Amino acid sequence: LRPKIVVIGSLNMDLVVKAVRAPKRGETVMGEEIHFIPGGKGANQAVGLARLGAETTMIGAVGSDAFGEKLKKALQKDGVNTSSIKVLDSEATGVASILLAEGDNSIVVVPGANAQCLPEDLDRYEEKITEADLVLLQLEIPLETVEYAIKLARKHGKTVMLNPAPAQNLSQDLLSKVDYLTPNRSELALLTGMSEESTIAKGIEQLLEVGVSCCVTTLGAEGVAFREKGGSLVKVSGNKVPVVDTTGAGDAFNAGLAYALAQKESIREAVEFAVQVSALAVTKFGAQGGMPTLAEVEKFQEG
Ligand code: RIB
Ligand code: NA
Repeated sequence: LRPKIVVIGSLNMDLVVKAVRAPKRGETVMGEEIHFIPGGKGANQAVGLARLGAETTMIGAVGSDAFGEKLKKALQKDGVNTSSIKVLDSEATGVASILLAEGDNSIVVVPGANAQCLPEDLDRYEEKITEADLVLLQLEIPLETVEYAIKLARKHGKTVMLNPAPAQNLSQDLLSKVDYLTPNRSELALLTGMSEESTIAKGIEQLLEVGVSCCVTTLGAEGVAFREKGGSLVKVSGNKVPVVDTTGAGDAFNAGLAYALAQKESIREAVEFAVQVSALAVTKFGAQGGMPTLAEVEKFQEG
């Protein structure tokens, strides 16, 4: 059975520049390549889900411009339902300026239309939420929309997964309503007010105390640490792969986790599956470029 998942989040056109090294403050360096490719944490996660085989609906907003058109087409090509993405004349499509240099990426996001993804839109598309098995959210749309989405999802008894990226402070009230929270190391530090050096275990424990049902922390190449309410800390190691582009690695992980959980897999199995999805994603260029199909993940599992 195909799980039904609604992603409520951002769509960005990623302007990816490759350079040998990043410029210092006030400096100009020559770049090597520029690419205009579909991105945005919401859209990336939606594409990841659709490639795995989930029946995926995306709720979001783009501008009535060429970028918006391209982003919607990219989602459609992967089978994501885009009928709940509104197209605005008043705003430009979101853009992410991404610099790839020295084996790392740095990103500046200009939200544009994403900032107009509003609570009232969710009322309009409430039916999509009623039909879903799981609602997946990130933090590239207004926080009030995220809050309202969680409220609606809970009203209909749906599982809520929140990927708290980019990092932002969240209220205890909001956190207490989240079933699965998936911060990376720095997001965990911000959410708990703890330093990145203090232990992951402590940070996760603090979030469970606030009321998160399960906290899954991604640790890059080191893998993942997770803990459920009433359980103990579990670590899952990463897979060694040839890395081409880590942009969207977290999105791939969240897509894999949401897919597996909606299939009623155990949290441990779901995390292991998500780690594999994310490992495959970083072997290819672009946030959406490397999102694997289910067949590709199964092949990878066979070694
Ligand atoms: O998570 C990666 C994404 O973050 C990129 O696609 C970019 O659009 C930014 O939103
Ligand atoms: Na990639």
